[in-house]
Amino acid sequence: MSNQLLREALTLDRYPRSNTYDPQWIVDNLMGPHPLWSAESLMQAMTLRPGMRVLDLGCGTALTSIFFAREYDVEVWATDLWVDPTENWQRIQEAGAADRVHPIQSDAHKLPFAHGFFDAIVSVGAFNYFGTGADYLAYCTQFLRPGGTVGVVVPGIRTQPDLAPPPYLATRWGPDLCTWLPPDWWRQLWERTNLVTVETADFVPNGWSDWLLWLKTCAQVGRGYAPDEQMLEADQGNLLGLTRLVAHLD
Ligand SMILES: C[S@@+](CC[C@H](N)C(=O)[O-])C[C@H]1O[C@@H](n2cnc3c(N)ncnc32)[C@H](O)[C@@H]1O
Repeated sequence: MSNQLLREALTLDRYPRSNTYDPQWIVDNLMGPHPLWSAESLMQAMTLRPGMRVLDLGCGTALTSIFFAREYDVEVWATDLWVDPTENWQRIQEAGAADRVHPIQSDAHKLPFAHGFFDAIVSVGAFNYFGTGADYLAYCTQFLRPGGTVGVVVPGIRTQPDLAPPPYLATRWGPDLCTWLPPDWWRQLWERTNLVTVETADFVPNGWSDWLLWLKTCAQVGRGYAPDEQMLEADQGNLLGLTRLVAHLD
């Protein structure tokens, strides 16, 4: 598929900022659902102001960190466990964001930052890997200033099935799917801490269909993931999508 066809396949009116990025660059560095679409959908529910200090938690290949820095003129600490920070630094420099994006390798449970340092924490496609424990929000918001914002987009399920999951979910079931949780599950987890006011806990509009489009397009250039594509196709948007959360530290 040519770059032009890839661009056409991955251009959506609802993501005008994402549309300006090289689709090949995004596909080459993918680690899950389209990271810039998720980041842009998060920003439809959350505000970053120029000059803010932002922690991008579980940034993977740092595409979202570069996106936040370039699009919203913020300074970003691109923090991830598995991806080599030297590789991220290379990507950050090539993207012309070296003055505003700082690559850090760290476990999300052992963050090397000063308490109260950040204006915002964002996390795209990653918070479910480390943030489902009852104590995690209290831990990570120590690094936020009072009134700071935390915003998350993660794979999710609309409601937990009462009975056994449908066969197309059962086939793909595993520890990772157990962390795909409904917006209200996260809302309750966060509200119980009494630390934050939850402003948004919903499903990203068109999350399921955009995710499937992304997987199908990636498959055409040899970067697909058939188990998730088949599962999303079978689901038809009944249960699966992207959970979005935005809260302010009280
Ligand atoms: C599916 S990838 C998503 C990466 C990127 N945000 C994106 O949307 O493409 C999940 C990321 O979570 C990170 N991660 C998982 N457990 C972590 C932990 N304990 N601390 C920090 N990052 C973690 C991994 O390093 C990985 O890059």
